[in-house]
Amino acid sequence: MTGRKRVAVLASGGGSNLQALIDHLAARGDDRMSDVVLVVSGREDTGAIARATRAALPVAVSAPDGLAGLFVGHAIDIVVLAGYLAFVPDEVTRKWAGRIINVHPALLPSFGGHGLYGLRVHRAVLAAGARVSGATVHFVDAEYDRGPIIAQWPVPVGADDSAESLAARVLRVEHLLLPRAVEALARGDVVLGADGRVRGGQSIEAGEAFSILTTDDATLGTAIDALFAR
Ligand code: GRF
Repeated sequence: MTGRKRVAVLASGGGSNLQALIDHLAARGDDRMSDVVLVVSGREDTGAIARATRAALPVAVSAPDGLAGLFVGHAIDIVVLAGYLAFVPDEVTRKWAGRIINVHPALLPSFGGHGLYGLRVHRAVLAAGARVSGATVHFVDAEYDRGPIIAQWPVPVGADDSAESLAARVLRVEHLLLPRAVEALARGDVVLGADGRVRGGQSIEAGEAFSILTTDDATLGTAIDALFAR
């Protein structure tokens, strides 16, 4: 027994977030607090399955109604949704409440909810003319994309962005944010309170992008001037 948390990753897409988590945990070596012990896809022919197989991780192909049984069978502590498009049954979100998280490629609660996944999210951001997007990691509950937020990181939207270029910029941030959130949860530094509020969380990522907010007004003004510089 290592004392590490046993993580299942649900991924039906390319699996780049799965890969980021695998690589992050490998880089942390003996200091890591979690291990990916199961990868579940909705289909067999996914990049996520290929990546899991390459990393010699157990894989399963499962419809949502098979998830609870799989997780119990593998003694799963933490469930990570990373591009698993099917709705996760209430049975699972209830049993793993406070231990099931999702990564979303925008700043929730904007640009989330039913039908907003993949490039559709970024198209909606561009159509709205939003100047900032970002990545969100949040707890999963019964309502799609609405669970309590653990961490977010902003990503600027460029005037010339396509949905694809914005997706790539956001994905890079997802790859940094998600593994750190998983480890913080495994460490117990992020906790979902009985009141539905998150304890810990944002401070795990409070770095450069937020330090600007704590600076004096003159410095902040100069930084904002730069937004409008031509
Ligand atoms: C990511 O953008 C994630 O936010 C969303 O689905 C995408 C999965 O990408 N939920 P990948 O399969 O991890 O490459």
